[in-house]
Amino acid sequence: MIDQGTIQQILDSAEIADVVGDFVTLKRRGTSMIGLCPFHNEKTPSFNVSQAKGIYKCFGCGKGGSAVNFIMEHEHLSYADALRWLANKYNIQIREKEESPEDVIERNDRESQLIVSEFAQKFFSNQLWETNSGRLIGLSYLRQRGMRDDIINKFGIGYCPEGKDIMTNAALKEGFKMEYLEKTGLTIKREEWVRDRFAGRMMFPIHGISGRVIGFGGRTLTQDKTIAKYLNSPESDIYHKSRVLYGIFQAKRSIIQEDKCYLVEGYTDVTSLHQSGIENVVASSGTSLTIDQIRMIRRFTNNVTIIYDGDQAGIKASMRGIDMVLEEGINVKVLPLPEGEDPDSFSRSMSSSQLKDYIRENETDFIKFKTKLLLAGVEKDPISRAKLITDIVGSISVIPDEIVRSEYLKECSRLLDVRETVLYNEIRKLKVKSEDEMIKHQERELLKETNIKSQPLSVPIPEINPCENEERELLKLLIKYGLHKIFDVENPETGEVEIVYVADYILSELEADQMESVNPVIKAVFDEYRLHIDDENFDAIKFFVNHADQSISQLVSDIMSEKNKLSQYWRKKGSFIEEEHDILHQLVPKVLQECKLRYISFLISQAEQGIRKASENNDFEAIMEFQKRYQKLKTVEGLLCGHLGQRTITS
Ligand code: CTP
Ligand code: MN
Repeated sequence: MIDQGTIQQILDSAEIADVVGDFVTLKRRGTSMIGLCPFHNEKTPSFNVSQAKGIYKCFGCGKGGSAVNFIMEHEHLSYADALRWLANKYNIQIREKEESPEDVIERNDRESQLIVSEFAQKFFSNQLWETNSGRLIGLSYLRQRGMRDDIINKFGIGYCPEGKDIMTNAALKEGFKMEYLEKTGLTIKREEWVRDRFAGRMMFPIHGISGRVIGFGGRTLTQDKTIAKYLNSPESDIYHKSRVLYGIFQAKRSIIQEDKCYLVEGYTDVTSLHQSGIENVVASSGTSLTIDQIRMIRRFTNNVTIIYDGDQAGIKASMRGIDMVLEEGINVKVLPLPEGEDPDSFSRSMSSSQLKDYIRENETDFIKFKTKLLLAGVEKDPISRAKLITDIVGSISVIPDEIVRSEYLKECSRLLDVRETVLYNEIRKLKVKSEDEMIKHQERELLKETNIKSQPLSVPIPEINPCENEERELLKLLIKYGLHKIFDVENPETGEVEIVYVADYILSELEADQMESVNPVIKAVFDEYRLHIDDENFDAIKFFVNHADQSISQLVSDIMSEKNKLSQYWRKKGSFIEEEHDILHQLVPKVLQECKLRYISFLISQAEQGIRKASENNDFEAIMEFQKRYQKLKTVEGLLCGHLGQRTITS
């Protein structure tokens, strides 16, 4: 354990901009610094560092925190390891806390369970290598299975001696308490007897994500079918079966490097693949995949390939939980193995390069795989076919990314020989949502998708800002009335009334639609406002007008002294005669919608321009693409106009 004084010294030295600066090129922007976010792909910087507050925050992906959090996130380290990393950077000598017997007692339960597990792992390993019975029984078993010594050591595999309570006694002799031996399930204690849970088994330690031993899987050496092949640690404070992925600690670096994770079923599948040079592999250890396991993988990659045993049970198992994986936005592939093989036996039957070739050639996209599998035998039967379509479309519909989804639908339409529109209709039927929610959702999805920045066909960012007027108006409302109340919203669950302020509303709406100004100064003001949104008594006018960045203070002074352009326009229409601050609940949403609409009509004109250019070049494919985008934008425009009361903008 790192001692408290050292921790303080590390925290004091770890200056946020300096730490982040090792990985991100930062530019000063007013009181904060800004750069390209290292946690997601972006072209315009939305990653902010506030030196005054010692924090970072990305407004694109939402990640944020202190210097230690940054290192944890970026280097995939635990809190303690991030501290060690920083200590190394700043040449700080770490003082480990000396542990007196009293300290040991004082340690909390969890820690004690971790320590006794670590002891047990060392004990089992020692038994395997250093004792006669260990070598004769345990080691020869592993060698007979073809396991290399370096793999045995890498996974800390050991042997629990045959006998009643050899391990328990050794632990007690070392001063470990029975309480923790029991809590971790290493020892089973009853009134009249005590025994080792794992006696006579090969021991596979299970490591948590940061490498500490949290539990064990024990394999029997007997062929006796009445004895469970594997015995696992029971649920405890440190071992939660549903949150464990066997091999994650040994795999994480490789998963990041390869940007891919193989998922297998068993302990030996993991170890054998490592032996064949494939290290980005984890096992769900005989349970069907849980959401916690998926999220653990997703910290490192979005690409998962499920390798399953080539029998019916294996196929079934790999189908289960798949929708859950797709729903998390993970790209899923499957690798079928020949009948009767599991990854362990299969990988041992060939060289490592043969294995890699096999994987490359046989990895199949999940949707394609499922479609083919289910299609086999039902081609002619219309009712089964209809069920099949609903089934597959169901899997596709949970994929969060619209573009990926539509790719799958295209593929599926080809494989099933069904028109795409039919599949889209199926999806629509599945997505039973309230009308309003649906519109909002569609609007956002489409707007996101048609956003110039994320489009592969993107047209250069314009020098003129198409939404300059609307954005300035919005900025003015934000700065002037940010802390004013705009709505009361009743929380449907608690019944409590929550107040929504103008600033919350404007900023969250812009964020949800991923709208950013192409004018960097306007964008900077929005961004910085976000940074200060929680400051008590934030005086935005004073803050921006006196801003160190000339261009910001200039812009805001200009805006604040401008005559109202848009509200004047409404006045002309004769509907609003009240004072501005009395009608914020109408004014703010209107200005926001005007802004979105203007943005859309700008995108529409770009698409039109694209169609024209592509026609001149006779580029049929591009024409189709622009046409599609044009149609989508028109739909969004229609939806937005609906919100504004049937008014279409004329420019
Ligand atoms: N498993 C378990 N309890 C059992 C059987 C299996 O927890 N009684 C889990 C283990 O994590 C095991 C995985 O399910 O690794 C897959 O089971 P199986 O295919 O039967 O075992 P293998 O991994 O193939 O083990 P071995 O090669 O040693 O036979
Ligand atoms: Mn096996």
